[in-house]
Amino acid sequence: NEIKIFCPATIANLSCGFDVLGLCLDTAGDEMIIKKSNTKGVRINKIVGADLPLETENNVAGVSLLAMLEEVEADFGFEIEIYKNIKAGSGIGSSAASSAGAVFGANELLGKPFTRKELIKFAMQGEKLASGNAHADNVAPALLGGFTLVRSSNPLDVIRIESPEELFATVIHPQIELKTSDARSVLKKTVSLKSAITQWGNVGGLVAGLYTKDYDLIGRSLHDEIIEPIRSLLIPGFNLIKNSALENGALGAGISGSGPSIFSLCRGNEIAQKIAAGMGKIYDDLDVPYEIHVSKI
Ligand code: HSE
Repeated sequence: NEIKIFCPATIANLSCGFDVLGLCLDTAGDEMIIKKSNTKGVRINKIVGADLPLETENNVAGVSLLAMLEEVEADFGFEIEIYKNIKAGSGIGSSAASSAGAVFGANELLGKPFTRKELIKFAMQGEKLASGNAHADNVAPALLGGFTLVRSSNPLDVIRIESPEELFATVIHPQIELKTSDARSVLKKTVSLKSAITQWGNVGGLVAGLYTKDYDLIGRSLHDEIIEPIRSLLIPGFNLIKNSALENGALGAGISGSGPSIFSLCRGNEIAQKIAAGMGKIYDDLDVPYEIHVSKI
């Protein structure tokens, strides 16, 4: 009658894959308790750790679950408690964690009428509420784990991508809030053919590198000349952090989701910890408060 779930943080975009690539972080996330209730509908009873709306229609978990309940008969209702550890506007999928968590948990209590892939489209409604855009690149890895590719949003076609064993992610979050809607509004609406060719070459290279466990190819492909040059201007010390990660052995580094978090990927925990120490020192020197997560993928 009750389920407690871990709602993982995620890294969207992964440099070249704006709105299509994403990655699940197993070591950072929220918790959520969902209970069956005799009263039909969805109630958010409690949110700890963040100042977010409790009204179901204004809450990303609430709207995601309402979208799901439009497609399934439930003879009971749901009560939700959300314990937020992922800060809103951090760039590691705070809204996606709540949206994905709500539909995952409710689906379990309903006896799993939907597959995990089918849950993605409901959780996308939470993303639409949070950012004005129903992107799936955070909710897909939150629900499926590992790396995911959103080949198409409409109709939805999401593919889980194999990845090498020893891959680690290091993510640093400067403690400022950057709303995804704001970080999207600064982007140009068109790209040059030259940049597009570079970008889709890198997306293909990254997916191929992950499948074939070719760390060098993964590193060569982690570039973004379309979004990063614009959004990085909103992030304190972005170039210093990125360069430090590369100097300490990262395969590549870039903006996590819509920022301000910065991520890097590397081979092995030892390098990931070295990268974390280097990144932390830069923000210490700049007097920027931060949090760091290291996660095996
Ligand atoms: N792809 C989205 C963006 C992710 O970059 O705007 C937001 O977390």
